[in-house]
Amino acid sequence: MKVIHVGVGGFGKQWVRVLRSSRKVRVVALVDVSEPALAAAREAGGYNGRVPCFTSLQEALRAVPADALVCSTPPDFHREQVVAALRAGLHAVSEKPMANTLADCKAMLRAARETGNTYVVSQNYRYRPEMWTIAELVRKGGIGAIGQVRIDFHKGVAFGGFRAEMEYPLLIDMSIHHFDLIRFVTGLDPVSVQGTAWNPAWSHYKGDCSSSVVFELSNGCRVVYDASWCAQGDYCDWNGNWQIEGTKGTILYRNGEIRLLKVGPRYKVESSETMAPKPPPADSQHFVLADFMRAVKNGRRPKTDVYDNIKSVAMVFAAVKAVKTGRKVAVLDKDSR
Ligand SMILES: NC(=O)c1ccc[n+]([C@@H]2O[C@H](COP(=O)([O-])OP(=O)(O)OC[C@H]3O[C@@H](n4cnc5c(N)ncnc54)[C@H](O)[C@@H]3O)[C@@H](O)[C@H]2O)c1
Repeated sequence: MKVIHVGVGGFGKQWVRVLRSSRKVRVVALVDVSEPALAAAREAGGYNGRVPCFTSLQEALRAVPADALVCSTPPDFHREQVVAALRAGLHAVSEKPMANTLADCKAMLRAARETGNTYVVSQNYRYRPEMWTIAELVRKGGIGAIGQVRIDFHKGVAFGGFRAEMEYPLLIDMSIHHFDLIRFVTGLDPVSVQGTAWNPAWSHYKGDCSSSVVFELSNGCRVVYDASWCAQGDYCDWNGNWQIEGTKGTILYRNGEIRLLKVGPRYKVESSETMAPKPPPADSQHFVLADFMRAVKNGRRPKTDVYDNIKSVAMVFAAVKAVKTGRKVAVLDKDSR
């Protein structure tokens, strides 16, 4: 597959490594607004002088025939770049979040529908050993029917760049991972959300960077999500801490450890077992890329394509609307259902 890679610095460096490691990919152009980022990517990808570099995606699309775009620019540019690629006849993978507004996401969904080309959002948190194992445990009925979930995500992260400036940096740039994981782990669709967001006095972020929201899922289950990127200690890992409770027991996740509690009648914990994480067939972005290429080749839908991801990203923008208005907000509408 011939790939144009746009946004090759920052987190794009991870994609440079992932693309380099695939025997089925040939990177045919690099695009970035930063010349130093282009030079570093040329070096890291082992491309030397063989791969042309551009500072505009439009130019690259005109000059170089390709099958797909990999887009790892900041979210503000995803709509313009992914839609341009889809309309030029390419398939596309972009980093999460799909875009910075629901209107942009819907425009991307429309472009995928109208062109028939494949567009995947990289929700790599699904494809790491711990959450993969937890999702499988739930799917196999390990805790019965899910009734309530608690997720606590507390980190102190001194991001600069677009995150320091954006509205609701945590909900839009980070919580998309956790909201997508809620769907992946429970296998349920979101219904509604209510909540609140705030910014503690010491936060260096411009937008509210702490929030507490409650989702209702399609079986009536509630998910209580409490998160901050400007926490002052007691940090968790990037997955957050999870407590998933069902009719037969609970799955607990804390900093890499998974525990399965079997619970009998009247809340009696009968056993507690630590479960070894079982890795997926490929890790993180490697899984996303392999799934994308297989799907394009075989004409089927990849797991986190735009038609699936619109439901996760709708959770983000419904949460934003809920914390802005203080009202309970429906998550899915006719476009995202
Ligand atoms: N999946 C993950 O775990 C994960 C982790 C970090 C970042 N991300 C995502 O990756 C994306 C990029 O984040 P980042 O922190 O690397 O951002 P960044 O600000 O470091 O930018 C990434 C690169 O894009 C380039 N760029 C900016 N605007 C451009 C444009 N208009 N055209 C071409 N190139 C442009 C920059 O020069 C830079 O080299 C975001 O969507 C972010 O949410 C994902």
